[in-house]
Amino acid sequence: MRDPVDVLVMNATELLTCVGVRRGPGLADLEVLRNAAIAIADGKIVDVGASTDLETRYDAALRIDASGRLVTPSFVDAHTHLVHAGSRHDEWEQRATGIPRHGIDGGIRWSIARTREAHEEVLRAQAIINLDIALEHGTTVLEAKSGYGLDRETELRLLRIASSLQHPVKVVPTYLGAHVLPPEYVDDKDAYVTLVMDLLPEASRYARYCDVWVDPVAFTADDGRRISRAAQSHGMGVRLHADQTGPAGGSGLGAELGASSVDHLECISDADLCLLGDSNTVAIVLPGVTFHMTEQVPRMVDGIEQLAERPHMPSWCRRIINSGAIVALATDYNPGTCPTISMQMVMQAAARLYRMSYAEIWHAVTVNAAQALDRSHRNGSLVAGHDGDLIIWSVPEHGMVINRFGYNLVDQVLVGGQVVVAGARRVTW
Ligand code: NIG
Ligand code: FE
Repeated sequence: MRDPVDVLVMNATELLTCVGVRRGPGLADLEVLRNAAIAIADGKIVDVGASTDLETRYDAALRIDASGRLVTPSFVDAHTHLVHAGSRHDEWEQRATGIPRHGIDGGIRWSIARTREAHEEVLRAQAIINLDIALEHGTTVLEAKSGYGLDRETELRLLRIASSLQHPVKVVPTYLGAHVLPPEYVDDKDAYVTLVMDLLPEASRYARYCDVWVDPVAFTADDGRRISRAAQSHGMGVRLHADQTGPAGGSGLGAELGASSVDHLECISDADLCLLGDSNTVAIVLPGVTFHMTEQVPRMVDGIEQLAERPHMPSWCRRIINSGAIVALATDYNPGTCPTISMQMVMQAAARLYRMSYAEIWHAVTVNAAQALDRSHRNGSLVAGHDGDLIIWSVPEHGMVINRFGYNLVDQVLVGGQVVVAGARRVTW
């Protein structure tokens, strides 16, 4: 007598389980099952194993033949600025071709102006379009920050939108009131920090996390500590944009606070790296930013913007992995430093620019990325008890997804055992 299940995906040439949060050498220790199958019932995975075993054990309402195909957990994108208005492609071209522009914070203020004047329904419609693209490229859980409003009304509007989007992608909202100083407060940081903190009770109704950009061009570690502690007292988790244009103590602060993640880390200090390596805070690195910004992100030294330069990124990334930190990859989708929402693009950039191995990259976009959103108990792995979310690829082997680049390799995506993408297109019933 076979057990009834809703879905049986069978005959996968390779299946990646990605079970267990990874750090240090464990990041590269990838389990690959061959000729494998997965059974899903009531939205949850009930079994993973050899096709020959599962076929004798389960009777499925829907059987999907994955022969000649790779099956993996779907992606968790733990860092995006999903809801905003306006495109900054002109600014990028001017920087890239050497025409001097305002600093990175100036670009953000341009986006703030566009976002404040945008109608709520336009912001919502644009967010849904981008969620469709993310889903078609394999993402099923996505963090979405506010941070392009920076006034009471617009910040809450962005969080309200992020928390109420009807979509197969699970959206996890984050309050980033402390992104940069908005134009009205450029000369009064303390007043703005007070406003950010005053908004926490309302923001915490919509947002699971609070984020602060701890950086020489934004907020200090002391600002970050005050805001984050207040957020924690309102039941929010903490994440930080940390040390992007210069060392600002953001990464160490994240470890001290028990933050869920610290992100960017391009200018992390040795002392902070030690603290991070010993902590459970996830280190999110962002190769899409490295790729897109080339050498355009300025370095701040003693308050002065220096000629743009960046460290040797493969050695930088290897130091972070070797520190023992839990390393994850995310898009940082935003109109300035990374206008892609494709985790495939991020994987392909991580291989080329950071020289991470295929195995390391797969763990960094699945189980470790899920851990960065405190969801590794239900997302990011193919194991019994987890959500029935997975990708069936158009290629048979996991290295091919990273070795190829520039086009979508997804065939099908399942969310809770439902086929939501087929032939790389969103399915609507
Ligand atoms: O994550 N670092 C701060 N914020 C964004 C940049 C956003 C923008 O350029 O609009 C980031 O890179
Ligand atoms: Fe960001």
